[in-house]
Amino acid sequence: MAEEILRVEDLTKIYPGGVLANYNINFSVNRGEIHALVGENGAGKSTLMKMLFGIEEITSGKVFLHGKEVHFSSSKDAIAHGIGMVHQHMMLAPSLTVAENLVLGIEKKKGLFLDKKKAIEETEAISKKYNLHVDAGKRVRDISIGMKQKLEILKTMYRGASIIILDEPTAVLAPQETEELFEQLLNLKKEGYTILFISHKLHEVKYLCDRLTVLKDGRSIKTCDAADVTPEEISRLMVGRDVKLEYEKTKKEFGGRILRVEHLNYTDKFGSKKVDDLNFSLREGEVLGIAGIEGNGQKEAMEILTGNRKAESGSVLYKGQDLCEKSIAENRALGISHVPEDRHLDGSAPEMSVRDNLIAASLTRLSKKAILDTAAIEEYCASCVRDFKVKTASLDISIKSLSGGNIQKAIVAREFTAGADVIVLNQPTRGVDVGAMEFIHKKILEMREEKKSLILVSADLAELKALSDRIIVFHQGRVAGVLSDVPNVTEEELGLYMLGLKHDPKEILEEA
Ligand SMILES: Nc1ncnc2c1ncn2[C@@H]1O[C@H](COP(=O)(O)OP(=O)(O)O)[C@@H](O)[C@H]1O
Ligand SMILES: [Mg+2]
Repeated sequence: MAEEILRVEDLTKIYPGGVLANYNINFSVNRGEIHALVGENGAGKSTLMKMLFGIEEITSGKVFLHGKEVHFSSSKDAIAHGIGMVHQHMMLAPSLTVAENLVLGIEKKKGLFLDKKKAIEETEAISKKYNLHVDAGKRVRDISIGMKQKLEILKTMYRGASIIILDEPTAVLAPQETEELFEQLLNLKKEGYTILFISHKLHEVKYLCDRLTVLKDGRSIKTCDAADVTPEEISRLMVGRDVKLEYEKTKKEFGGRILRVEHLNYTDKFGSKKVDDLNFSLREGEVLGIAGIEGNGQKEAMEILTGNRKAESGSVLYKGQDLCEKSIAENRALGISHVPEDRHLDGSAPEMSVRDNLIAASLTRLSKKAILDTAAIEEYCASCVRDFKVKTASLDISIKSLSGGNIQKAIVAREFTAGADVIVLNQPTRGVDVGAMEFIHKKILEMREEKKSLILVSADLAELKALSDRIIVFHQGRVAGVLSDVPNVTEEELGLYMLGLKHDPKEILEEA
């Protein structure tokens, strides 16, 4: 008989400002099961988990642990009750070692100081016990994302958790790392741990989990055995309609090399070499996909070629000019557009209106004799909102009040209509809902039809496969592989390049 360990009843969360993030959520978790929470972005998964972990206040509703109602006012309370959480964005101290991070906050002291030797011993012991390998003495900033995640899991166990919440743990992993994580989670399940697993990758959920609960628009709409539903059925429950994310792509001939990156180098402020003698080129009219585990130089390289960052050395040749020597504005004027990775930090001016955000990349075109042409502006903004299906109450409200998907569609509208020849897209669909994702994908393919040349950096390998004409893989600031036969590329193969287990210099030389 399944033993119910956790139960929530009519849990509701209204954030200050009135966002109804969870509404009357009901579900329960059994001891020793892996229970998935699935739902589109913004469905309310993280909010629900944060309430269970005591870091978001519950607006109304009840939480029961082992049949007894509990009230948590901080994560300390949750931890005391055996609940641990690994957040979507990991929360480790980069300059401390693995062992120091493990014991941080509850460390044993020698006089006033942390007993480092003891911390290392304990880390090695717990790491061995649960078969989650970490390098105790390394600094967190020097370890891989996969290892950081193991450390986060160990941290919860070190604090006595028996229920572990993992918020989208696979979003940042290579396929092989995901497989390893799953093996370890299945192991923990065997040891009697209960796992709450958040994901929107439905094949993973099918494979790993015993049961799943679907959230949609902040409501729990179904709990069922994972064995009883297909990924397609789950997707339909999440989105409310069929979504395929497969596209017809026209065959086409590509032009010459429109952009060449040559011997590019960049070192960050910690002295870590992010871009290391990087070489690649973009053909006219193609979508060039860039795969790679986060932190392998993709972001820095894109920022260099759009003028957002200065290279140490090397060049980016485009129409007889070196983009490395130019400012953002000069690069824009030369015809380079950029959808940056972080739409809140770099992509938009959050306090400014939707209108001002939209026109920012087209000011020259929208001016007459250096004076803004208000009629042209209204017409331009209206067409952006219409053609890119940006849901906004008006053009006057600040862009930050739109949903993530709509902010992203507005940024894509601005960048796709600025008249550029080369469009650099960095994680253009990260964190947007499936509907907006499908829309942005179609717009990318429209740009391809219009002979624009696009660079698409994405952590979503399915997205790269669906849209790219070629895929190059970044590893430690270099190109580790060039894959031209995209339809036949497997995620496993991409993963090998991403992890640095495969390197194909011959193809890279031919490409350069
Ligand atoms: N701190 C916050 N303040 C206000 N609204 C928030 C906050 N965090 C999340 N939200 C909103 O709550 C809703 C659910 O978000 P979230 O729980 O993060 O969803 P998910 O994890 O499923 O993507 C979204 O509309 C989001 O914008
Ligand atoms: Mg979330």
